[in-house]
Amino acid sequence: MIRVENLHRHFGGFHAVDGASIEIATGSITGLIGPNGAGKSTLFNVIAGVLPPTSGRVMMNGEDITGLKPHELFHKGLLRTFQIAHEFSSMTVRENLMMVPAGQSGESLWSACFRRGRIAEEERALARKADEVLDFLTISHVADEKAGNL
Ligand SMILES: Nc1ncnc2c1ncn2[C@@H]1O[C@H](COP(=O)(O)OP(=O)(O)OP(=O)(O)O)[C@@H](O)[C@H]1O
Ligand SMILES: [Mg+2]
Repeated sequence: MIRVENLHRHFGGFHAVDGASIEIATGSITGLIGPNGAGKSTLFNVIAGVLPPTSGRVMMNGEDITGLKPHELFHKGLLRTFQIAHEFSSMTVRENLMMVPAGQSGESLWSACFRRGRIAEEERALARKADEVLDFLTISHVADEKAGNL
């Protein structure tokens, strides 16, 4: 699914990533290990579009995604998460999940005033989807808990 080809990332004269090539198979859970300063985070940052590479390519399902911005990669299904999660602490776990899909009708002032029915309908669908995810993760029991309490 992800193929990194001969990736280099230099910071001035310093070679943080020096010709990395990796392949990640669809459906696998893949880890990257190495000592402090080995270049793991730099490699992740390049894959996730946070940093452009000095040279080399990142392919996703055969498509060249090198240098795409994080929001562009998000729409292709590639997202970087962080070791320390940043949730909306005063919203519930379900509401946090409902925030994920971009371009919701309620984000537009016009819709918020004149299309309340459509927004409510969309929110019901998002809540159902969020509940499916919570069920999949077997954490349905915390759906209504404020995320900050977890
Ligand atoms: N923006 C930057 N400017 C200059 N040097 C950097 C920059 N980012 C990372 N480096 C250097 O590149 C090297 C690799 O850093 P990186 O953070 O990728 O390592 P890491 O494998 O994630 O380490 P750790 O296990 O400590 O998280 C380090 O020597 C670091 O100091
Ligand atoms: Mg790191």
